[in-house]
Amino acid sequence: MWQVRKPAQLPLTKNYKAPAKAHWHSKIERKPVMLLVLSLIVVAIGGMVEMIPTFLVKENVPTISSVKPYTPLELHGRDIYIQEGCNNCHTQMIRPFRHEVARYGEYSKAGEFVYDHPHLWGSKRTGPDLARIGSKYPDSWHFNHMLEPTSMAPDL
Ligand code: HEC
Repeated sequence: MWQVRKPAQLPLTKNYKAPAKAHWHSKIERKPVMLLVLSLIVVAIGGMVEMIPTFLVKENVPTISSVKPYTPLELHGRDIYIQEGCNNCHTQMIRPFRHEVARYGEYSKAGEFVYDHPHLWGSKRTGPDLARIGSKYPDSWHFNHMLEPTSMAPDL
């Protein structure tokens, strides 16, 4: 037999009174602006707890003795790299994954970037990672590549 069902009823929200044994935070949860402000404060405190020690405790960024400040020539090259937008297609940060280490070499350490402001880690790899490119090819490779790119890739 078919029965006519009563229409579904929404709980009454008007004049709603929280049960007497509600949690202490239910008062805040019913006030969206206050909830927003208080959550922002809590998130800010959490953020500071995470970030401040990183800035203050020196051991958190392990220094590598072979990492020296850039020479003026290196800085000039870095500026050209940024100017030409190389970082739009190339990253300079090898992640500690096996396939990356196998292809690009030893993964990047935090201490390698202490003189990099702004860092050029990049986020897009249209081309390969260039973090260890310096030791990959001799200077002559780059010289010849500029004159005649295909001469350095005879297979193509
Ligand atoms: C439009 C994207 C793009 C831009 C911008 C770009 N590259 Fe590349 N780059 C590539 C791609 C793709 C390859 C790989 C080519 C191949 O293997 O055939 C590459 C390869 C290279 C390589 C050889 C890497 C290797 O491991 O063999 C070097 C070095 C390089 N780029 C340097 C630069 C520099 C310096 C700049 C800035 C002047 C630059 N690239 C800008 C896409 C780009």
